Amino acid sequence: MGFSRILRPSCLSLSFLILLSFSLNLHCSTGSETISLGRPLSGNQTLISPQGNFALGFFTPGGSSSSGRHYIGIWYNKLPDQTIVWVANRDRPVSDPTRSSLNLSRDGNLALLDESGNTVWSTNSTSMVSNSTAAAVLLDNGNFVLRADVENSSSTIWESFDHPTDHWLPGGKIGYNKISNAKQILASWRSPLNPAPSQFTLGPSQNGSSHELLWNGSQMYWTSGVWNGRIFSLVPELQLNYYVTNMTRISNDKDDYFTYDSAVPSAFTRFVVESSGQLKQYVWGRNFTSWTLFWTRPTQQCQVYAFCGVASICNLQDEPLCVCIDGFGPKHQRDWDLSDHSGGCVRKTPLNCTNNAVGEVDKFRTLPNMQYPSNPESWPGGNLQECESLCLANCSCDAFAYDNGCLIWKRDHMFNLQQLLEAERVGKDIHVRVASSEIPSIEDNSAVKKRKKHTRTVLIVVAATVGSGFVTLSAAGLLLLVILWRRSNNASAAAAADDKYEPRDDNSLSFFNYKELKTATKNFSEKLGEGGFGAVYKGTLPNSTLIAVKQLKSLQQSEKQFMAEVKTIGTIQHINLVRLRGFSVESSKRFLVYEYMPNGSLESLLFHQTTATTLSWRFRYQIAAGSARGLAYLHEDCRDCIIHCDIKPDNILLDSEYNPKVADLGLAKIFGREFSRVLTTMRGTRGYLAPEWISGEAITPKADVFSYGMLLCEIISGRRNTDSSEVDSYFPFELASAVSRGGDVASLLDDKLEGNADMEEVGRACRVACWCIQDNEKDRPTMRQVVQILDGVCEVNTPAVPRFLERYAEGSSAATMNYLQGMSSSKE
Ligand SMILES: *[C@@H]1O[C@H](CO)[C@@H](O)[C@H](O)[C@H]1NC(C)=O
Ligand SMILES: *[C@@H]1O[C@H](CO)[C@@H](O)[C@H](O)[C@H]1NC(C)=O
Ligand SMILES: *[C@@H]1O[C@H](CO)[C@@H](O)[C@H](O)[C@H]1NC(C)=O
Ligand SMILES: *[C@@H]1O[C@H](CO)[C@@H](O)[C@H](O)[C@H]1NC(C)=O
Ligand SMILES: *[C@@H]1O[C@H](CO)[C@@H](O)[C@H](O)[C@H]1NC(C)=O
Ligand SMILES: *[C@@H]1O[C@H](CO)[C@@H](O)[C@H](O)[C@H]1NC(C)=O
Ligand SMILES: *[C@@H]1O[C@H](CO)[C@@H](O)[C@H](O)[C@H]1NC(C)=O
Ligand SMILES: *[C@@H]1O[C@H](CO)[C@@H](O)[C@H](O)[C@H]1NC(C)=O
Ligand SMILES: *[C@@H]1O[C@H](CO)[C@@H](O)[C@H](O)[C@H]1NC(C)=O
Ligand SMILES: *[C@@H]1O[C@H](CO)[C@@H](O)[C@H](O)[C@H]1NC(C)=O
Ligand SMILES: *[C@@H]1O[C@H](CO)[C@@H](O)[C@H](O)[C@H]1NC(C)=O
Repeated sequence: MGFSRILRPSCLSLSFLILLSFSLNLHCSTGSETISLGRPLSGNQTLISPQGNFALGFFTPGGSSSSGRHYIGIWYNKLPDQTIVWVANRDRPVSDPTRSSLNLSRDGNLALLDESGNTVWSTNSTSMVSNSTAAAVLLDNGNFVLRADVENSSSTIWESFDHPTDHWLPGGKIGYNKISNAKQILASWRSPLNPAPSQFTLGPSQNGSSHELLWNGSQMYWTSGVWNGRIFSLVPELQLNYYVTNMTRISNDKDDYFTYDSAVPSAFTRFVVESSGQLKQYVWGRNFTSWTLFWTRPTQQCQVYAFCGVASICNLQDEPLCVCIDGFGPKHQRDWDLSDHSGGCVRKTPLNCTNNAVGEVDKFRTLPNMQYPSNPESWPGGNLQECESLCLANCSCDAFAYDNGCLIWKRDHMFNLQQLLEAERVGKDIHVRVASSEIPSIEDNSAVKKRKKHTRTVLIVVAATVGSGFVTLSAAGLLLLVILWRRSNNASAAAAADDKYEPRDDNSLSFFNYKELKTATKNFSEKLGEGGFGAVYKGTLPNSTLIAVKQLKSLQQSEKQFMAEVKTIGTIQHINLVRLRGFSVESSKRFLVYEYMPNGSLESLLFHQTTATTLSWRFRYQIAAGSARGLAYLHEDCRDCIIHCDIKPDNILLDSEYNPKVADLGLAKIFGREFSRVLTTMRGTRGYLAPEWISGEAITPKADVFSYGMLLCEIISGRRNTDSSEVDSYFPFELASAVSRGGDVASLLDDKLEGNADMEEVGRACRVACWCIQDNEKDRPTMRQVVQILDGVCEVNTPAVPRFLERYAEGSSAATMNYLQGMSSSKE
């Protein structure tokens, strides 16, 4: 095999040395080529893999060598940051690496010996080895192997891939050994500075057919779903994961494990269970300058079981994420400060649990709008007071709630208490027992109240939910969606004062107050429809103009910012875009007021048509071209260009002259981080989403082009793309196959048209549709080019079948169709 075995001083120490201007060669000469008998590794020596991908040696978490805690680890040798992918002595650091060594002994045991010669870590292997051939080497996939004969890969005695720490690298294993029953499980670091194993693990399920994230070895908080040979049932987007290929379950006499390969040779990819308890996939492509987050489960930190520890509140809206219940403090303040919350919180004042104690009975502190902690005990009790008395009478009762019966939490069992969003108001009250002396002082000091007073700026990274689970978009993809979220109590007053909108001429944006809208819509009595972002009502203004009023759902944005976005959208005017006439902001209520479109949506025209009302081809083509013009304007011609992000037949409306108009533009800007969550969980939306929504690449106007292509497919076929239950008859796939073969496009046309169409136009529309849904956004045309092609100004050549469609066709069709149709079976 010819490994070039190199042992050299690590770069980090080298540069450190140069700064201190010591002699560089001082300790180099003691190094040998590999770790073999009599040639240990110690100090700042490192073992480098043949191609130089990985390095092994001593490291200090966080890089500061002053902390005195040194570990043997493996990291990417070519990347500028030291990302540790494996650690030997996870919970037993050594203090002096120069006097510690990783030493191979004659019995085939590789041991880390500290300065006193004590074994801190060892491979525990016992197989007599000869000093001429046995050695430990680091392979280019990051596997550290000990072989009786270094040139013979069948003579492996021990390998780090059998003993992963928190990383699952391409080629690595997760599973178990059938003989020893030892499991390959990932356990996260306790905190970013402490590699000791935490309670969060990823491992195989009981029968090995799925992966599970567990807390404390038993409490499952995420599962991949069962492996069907191609995908895990709850991770269908695995098929769309550009960086992962050959995911396989290998089951033989000895082992049963999953492994995968990296699909992009020039990129590094890794799965890791982070100290947050989340399973994440990161990628580092050829020209990247840092790791890009590609995929996360669960996406919300508060969904990680017991992340905040006992008696602590998880709060997604604020920093810090975990806060002790009032009257409690962190059990281990130092760990807590390092984001290791596993110790949880303890009472500042012990409970006075002497029953019948005169006047010194414990009291209860009420926490409003909470999600209950896990695993309550149900006790009989008819009302709040009865529950309270029951709790008070039993010293092991730590908290109670009344919810059609008493729910009781026993001492030290209050895990996963969560503060819900203020706007949602779906949470419930929970009453936590505290010493009576705590009550007067904590009354004015409630955590909830304190938080409200804060005015701060938080950078929020958006988590989008796709499929049966959640997908976190990469930072690169978030141009539009990463928002600087300012919370300010007086923003609304200030905003209302500086931005007065009065109805002026017909072209300006009007400000409506809630009462006016209530009157105009006759108390919101005539609902036109309801989508993921709110319901739409018909209304009539005093001058008898018809309007459509959209009431926006739980918007997490300040009035000021809302108005700024609305102003921008209000300036956009085009014949093929639905015009915003005005808006309303009053306390938490937000409304957008649009011109009324009497002829409904393309969705109803297209999918609820009968033979009598079949949309003619001529008309379909006009709708397709008009919508394309509207989008081209949105992308290129208006001052603040916007990406629509939600193109689908429901959002193409028809005015009194049946001009198509694109509706709901700018909602992505208004909703910010909420938008992607709603969009990707909304039923009937997923089939229009471009692959980059799932893969986490940047969202550009080409994402709209993709959705437009999907829409065009439906215009041609006259049926929903997701109507079929089989991938083979998934219309975009049929269309792409026919078009790429240069086949007969007439067969693709809606049967109801009975061939009444300009076949040249049908051919053009089919080719454009197929170009629009290409995997790589660079292959898709711009909306301007789409218009030119549909207008017959430009000719277009034959496209290829998009790769994602081929993957759908290869995958399990039921899972794919469920995924596209948005029938999530996830717990999340
Ligand atoms: C290795 O580290 C030791 C201790 O920090 C230092 O004295 C020595 O010069 C280093 N050797 C090399 C070759 O970097
Ligand atoms: C390393 O192992 C060899 C062979 O077992 C032994 O002779 C040597 O003393 C060990 N080195 C240290 C530093 O303990
Ligand atoms: C070696 O054995 C010790 C004691 O049984 C154990 O704590 C340690 O985890 C084992 N090391 C490995 C790498 O399995
Ligand atoms: C290797 O083994 C031979 C004898 O088998 C011995 O003479 C030699 O010193 C050993 N070398 C090392 C480095 O242990
Ligand atoms: C490689 O090692 C295996 C297991 O120790 C042995 O059976 C085989 O003969 C070795 N092959 C060579 C070429 O040495
Ligand atoms: C393994 O267990 C899961 C439930 O945990 C079940 O759905 C699946 O069918 C089982 N697979 C096998 C091969 O027994
Ligand atoms: C964790 O699991 C162990 C053993 O299963 C159990 O004894 C312990 O109580 C658990 N810890 C907590 C905090 O529930
Ligand atoms: C995937 O597996 C096939 C068949 O084993 C193999 O030929 C191919 O090289 C693998 N792909 C990668 C990227 O390793
Ligand atoms: C990476 O950068 C090089 C030079 O900077 C460039 O030639 C190459 O096209 C880039 N690769 C990608 C995938 O962008
Ligand atoms: C508990 O109650 C007794 C009796 O009223 C009182 O003397 C004592 O201070 C109380 N202790 C605490 C910790 O509240
Ligand atoms: C208190 O509640 C626990 C748990 O339900 C129960 O086991 C115990 O018997 C109760 N103690 C008293 C004094 O009622």
